Amino acid sequence: MRILSGIQPSGELHIGNYLGALKNWVKLQNDSKNECWFFVADYHSITENYDPKEKPKEILNLTADLLSLGLNPEKSVIFQQSQIPGHADLTWIFNTITPLGELERMTQYKDKAASQKQNINVGLFDYPVLMAADILIYKSDAVPVGEDQVQHLELTREIARRFNDKFGKVFPEPKPLLTETPRIMSLTAPDKKMSKSGGEKSYIAISDSPEVIKEKIKTAVSDAGGDNGKSPSPRLRTTKGGDNLLVIFNAFAETKEEKSDYSNYKRYHEDGTLKYAEFKPALAELIANHFADYRKKRAELSENPDYVKQVLADGAAKASAIASKTLLEVRTKIGLII
Ligand code: ADP
Ligand code: TRP
Repeated sequence: MRILSGIQPSGELHIGNYLGALKNWVKLQNDSKNECWFFVADYHSITENYDPKEKPKEILNLTADLLSLGLNPEKSVIFQQSQIPGHADLTWIFNTITPLGELERMTQYKDKAASQKQNINVGLFDYPVLMAADILIYKSDAVPVGEDQVQHLELTREIARRFNDKFGKVFPEPKPLLTETPRIMSLTAPDKKMSKSGGEKSYIAISDSPEVIKEKIKTAVSDAGGDNGKSPSPRLRTTKGGDNLLVIFNAFAETKEEKSDYSNYKRYHEDGTLKYAEFKPALAELIANHFADYRKKRAELSENPDYVKQVLADGAAKASAIASKTLLEVRTKIGLII
């Protein structure tokens, strides 16, 4: 199966990105049945407000993060989107078969347009078509992402179908691959998804030190009505924050002991006797330990930006070969080859 996914170089990676997508990238890569393609979506990231002086660092940092989390250039093709011109070429062609109304319905577009009113650019609107081109130019079968990207995948399938119907079959209809935790919620506003845009306290960055993780979990919203989880009636408790912390604990619990701790915490949570003063430090420690190996590798890679650049250059060479081939096939089908 050909697996492909991308991620934008903007801000730090957080445990929502990890549990919703990146953990799955590594797992899929390590299954020898798959052929994996992962890229840094820099063209997508310039649809938001950004500083051009910072962007090169963000691209290199994200690549170093992906490598430190376990992506392996011997097993996966790892590249930078803008180094492959075919993505933008195919976007233009797909633009001509995509109805305006379908893009107007995209939830992420509506949310982002509302949050950057001074910069509602055409790129932001066309973002899902570029995403469809990213995926289809490699004829990918499956795309590991978090839940918020599922609507974009539906549009991608729609575009593939429309193209195939109109010009003859070229593309597969790729499906999303979700983890068991496709939507981790914010620590400070647990009715919203965890996101970089929610502010530093709302997420745990995978690069946070154990101390910072402890502090952020300590101040995370848990159950309403006090932090001891004991309210007069279970019906009076809103448990969204607490539920989310338990989901996170479960996702990071690996050993038998950690899994059995989870079952106990879950039971206490259900009957309203969970002691957050015990649970929260245990959760913080679990997360911090999970990323100990990442922190070590990441520190080593910071010393070696040339290696990171070389990984992207090697990846671009492999990606370009396939992208040009698909583009020639597409241009032929739509009648542009003279
Ligand atoms: P952010 O919202 O922080 O900007 P991105 O849009 O860069 O995150 O998302 C990168 C990847 O991580 C995507 O596959 C996305 O679906 C996934 N993802 C983002 N936030 C979450 C979350 N809170 N829970 C699960 N997956 C998420
Ligand atoms: N839109 C995705 C996000 O915000 C990033 C992305 C761009 C992507 N192109 C893609 C993901 C192609 C999967 C496949 O996370």
